[in-house]
Amino acid sequence: MEHGNHHAADSSEPAEPGRGSPQTPEAVSGFWDQSYSEKPALWSGRPNAALVSEIRGLQPGRVLDVGCGEGADAVWLAEQSWEVTALEVSTVALDRAARQAARRGVTVTWLHSGLVEAALPPASFDLVSAQYPALLRTGDKAAEFALLHAVAPGGTLLVVHHQLPADPDTSAHSAALRDYVGLADVAALLDENWHLEVHETRPRNVSTGAGAHHTEDVVLRARRLR
Ligand SMILES: C[S@@+](CC[C@H](N)C(=O)[O-])C[C@H]1O[C@@H](n2cnc3c(N)ncnc32)[C@H](O)[C@@H]1O
Repeated sequence: MEHGNHHAADSSEPAEPGRGSPQTPEAVSGFWDQSYSEKPALWSGRPNAALVSEIRGLQPGRVLDVGCGEGADAVWLAEQSWEVTALEVSTVALDRAARQAARRGVTVTWLHSGLVEAALPPASFDLVSAQYPALLRTGDKAAEFALLHAVAPGGTLLVVHHQLPADPDTSAHSAALRDYVGLADVAALLDENWHLEVHETRPRNVSTGAGAHHTEDVVLRARRLR
């Protein structure tokens, strides 16, 4: 079976907002609502391949799906017996996600919020999954710390992103991606309380759809020791 929620359902990926674009929580929500509204489905409906492979062997517990989009990962996780909280800024995406969960007969707790604004209780998830997250970089590294702080001792943080080209790419899309928290930003904050289990670049086997121009993923999996 081909996995990969982040295969676009058709050929045009939203040009994520970059510097100069509105960056308030309301403006970010509005941007993503508009992007989702332009298509009946933005993503494929399949769980992301890196999620499926990286959590193999983990005991299901409480999971946070950060930026769950149309909910393919969240629904799949619930089907694997995880207790899922899925957080998303777009109500359009969340409505689709909730409908999909109802169709599949699974329960997910949906949170309409940005990651930082959600002010989640610290150390409350056994797995925090952020698949191609669109978390704006800020000077105080609020998004990176929110990811780390959400993981319970003994729990796992999994972050997957596109590998950006080594040579600076001048396309607007690549420039926008550089405005977002990347895996290096997260890795840089892992201290002695964490064990970095995976931090590698992998080929991305997506041949169709908007994401096809991204040929590599970068995957970070870390376990919180204490
Ligand atoms: C590139 S999409 C990835 C969606 C999904 N994880 C997937 O793999 O298909 C990024 C998602 O993050 C959401 N998002 C944007 N800003 C966010 C924020 N501050 N906190 C949480 N989610 C956010 C967007 O609405 C969008 O659904």
